[in-house]
Amino acid sequence: MEKEIDGVIYNVPCHVAVILDGNGRWAKKRHLPRNFGHKEGAKAVEQCCEDAWNLGIKCLTVYAFSTENWKRSVEEVTGIMNLLRNYLLNAIQRANKNNMRVRVIGERSKLAADIIEAIERLEDATKGNTGLQFTIALNYGGRDEIRRAMIKLAEKVKAGELEPSAITEDMISNNLDTWELPDPDLLIRTSGEMRSSNYLPWQIAYSEFYFTDTLWPDFKREDMIEAIRHYSMRDRRYGGVK
Ligand code: IPE
Ligand code: IPE
Ligand code: MG
Repeated sequence: MEKEIDGVIYNVPCHVAVILDGNGRWAKKRHLPRNFGHKEGAKAVEQCCEDAWNLGIKCLTVYAFSTENWKRSVEEVTGIMNLLRNYLLNAIQRANKNNMRVRVIGERSKLAADIIEAIERLEDATKGNTGLQFTIALNYGGRDEIRRAMIKLAEKVKAGELEPSAITEDMISNNLDTWELPDPDLLIRTSGEMRSSNYLPWQIAYSEFYFTDTLWPDFKREDMIEAIRHYSMRDRRYGGVK
């Protein structure tokens, strides 16, 4: 979508997916414990939701905790889960104020019962909101998501409702956690790492990538505009010729 931002016309991506990375290094640089970085990172996520919507982005999907992140120390995992609890405390009120719809993707059954309950309440209370479609990937792993989708399709085959050869790409997409969302147009990863770390592997097949050295807690509106500026210059050919 074309939009004027600070006097310049940009082609703004509809769906932006972000691998928010570098919280630990942000804290380390300041000789602070890693969880301080996560706290600052959580604040940056809230600001990013507001900025994204004002810049014309319709869907924002952030990677908050991967299926692999359980490998971290108990102290760090507990710290992240408590930040999440804290976020969920007044998330409904804030989301409704901004007409923002919140969804959570990932394997939630492994999360604590009070967190699961708060997520369900948040999703339900914001389901009619038509502003930013904000999605949090929690205990999310792309391969795990595809595995779970395969189980659903295999069950249909087993029940005699589906011929294996009739499985389409759309059927696979529609059985992923992101079934209600369009594929990301732009994938951003902060902190200088250039890998996808099991994030939305099916959905980013044709996304544009933008990498920045900025650490996630330092990622501001200007950084998002810079990412949009890069995206605006890309020529998306989808395998064709232009
Ligand atoms: C990203 O920051 C947040 C999570 C993975 C939860 P990191 O914690 O990975 O930060 P670095 O990569 O150690 O700096
Ligand atoms: C990816 O970041 C996961 C999240 C941002 C939640 P990591 O910091 O865990 O990824 P790796 O280990 O560097 O690949
Ligand atoms: Mg990291």
